[in-house]
Amino acid sequence: MEPSATAQELDIDQLQEQARRHLWMHFSRMGAYDAEHEIPIIARGDGAYVWDAHGKKYLDGLSGLFCVNAGHGRPELAEAAARQFEELEFYVLWSYAHPRAIELATKIADLAPGDLNRVFFTNGGAESVESALKLARNYHRMHGHGQKTKVIARKIAYHGTTLGALSATGVTEMKAQFEPVAPGAVHVANTNMYRYPEDRDPMDLANAIEEAIAFEGAETVAAVILEPVQNAGGCFVPPEGYFQRVREICDEHNVLLISDETICAWGRLGHFFGCERFGYQPDIITTAKSITSAYVPMGVMIVSDRVAEPFMQPGNEMFAHGYTFAGHPIASAVALANIEVFERDGLCEHVLAKEGEFGEMLESLSDLPIVGDVRGVGFFRAIELVKDKETKETFNDEEAEYLLRGFLSGELYSRGLICRADDRGDPVIQLAPPLICDTQQFQEMHDVLRPVLEEASERMHKR
Ligand SMILES: Cc1ncc(COP(=O)(O)O)c(C=O)c1O
Repeated sequence: MEPSATAQELDIDQLQEQARRHLWMHFSRMGAYDAEHEIPIIARGDGAYVWDAHGKKYLDGLSGLFCVNAGHGRPELAEAAARQFEELEFYVLWSYAHPRAIELATKIADLAPGDLNRVFFTNGGAESVESALKLARNYHRMHGHGQKTKVIARKIAYHGTTLGALSATGVTEMKAQFEPVAPGAVHVANTNMYRYPEDRDPMDLANAIEEAIAFEGAETVAAVILEPVQNAGGCFVPPEGYFQRVREICDEHNVLLISDETICAWGRLGHFFGCERFGYQPDIITTAKSITSAYVPMGVMIVSDRVAEPFMQPGNEMFAHGYTFAGHPIASAVALANIEVFERDGLCEHVLAKEGEFGEMLESLSDLPIVGDVRGVGFFRAIELVKDKETKETFNDEEAEYLLRGFLSGELYSRGLICRADDRGDPVIQLAPPLICDTQQFQEMHDVLRPVLEEASERMHKR
């Protein structure tokens, strides 16, 4: 489909000027935009593609930001929202309920594994994580263990920007402007298997969590928070048995296991929930993003019966926490329609059927000198870029800055591929396309990535 007339009629110069003057983009170097450096303005989307304000087409290899899983421009989701606007545009979940939130909670409980049956809505990933950290503390308090307040997370992991979620986030540069963040977060090694010594037992990575619990004192630790596949750092996949060992450790020390599936749920790894991919049972799942395929904002914390139980007893107990817009009727209606699309179109099954082909396409780039590692599962993949393939030497800060922001980001975008060039850990390119992508889109990604990475290799070699 070609861009609509409205996209073509936009006054681009005016939009650019207004954006530079009034819009504060997130995690963006606003000062870097000037008359020579346009702000990319995305004006329209359809399926796996978006169009910018000039009418230029891009393959959305990042699904917005790991979230438009069902693809752009689905009329079913727009219609569900429109029907809901006519019936009930808003009611709050503070002491009231409404039909769509009840139906959605029931559907999520049905999809979620094991006894994850209690659904607490939020508006996004950070709010879900914040809610889980508060619930973990409160759960232990209700059981007479009020000292259990700390959370164990992993280095380089991103869990959101609110001060609690930020404390769990393991990226120093993201906290530096805001210290002190909420106290009590402890960080252990992540599962970067590319850089893990071959002669070490991968299970030491899980055991590091037990060591941290012992060091802090189990009587002070409330929860462990982990993503099924860690996003920041570039799609770190857990070694075999990792989560089973973490589960054992959590049980042994009365510590809750929070699976942060802000990205990894909703088919990204080929299942409704990421923990299903690795066969472990968390006490709490936090998620957001693609619960509505990002058509409207929504997040959710899914809680096991065991953890919810103290708050459900007859009497006056309550979890003193909430958000005005959580479980918004429009978002609930869209989420229900989104899940229906997933089930009707078999999006999880499609990912499982096609992940091999997607992975092989990326692996085929491994001959390039700059490609050190290709990793990930489902439609969630990363390419780690290295200076020296043999020694795995990475780029220094100045080189990484030039490689990612001075060359790759702009070049990939100008050739019509939106993906992420990131260096919260070592430099990586990440791809997480809409789950409707197939052979054609894999080929398109390849046809952009290969020449761009070839040129990147040459440029970095010459420096
Ligand atoms: C694992 C994880 N947790 C939390 C968040 C924060 O989500 P939000 O930006 O919706 O607050 C993100 C965002 O990407 C995430 O990837």
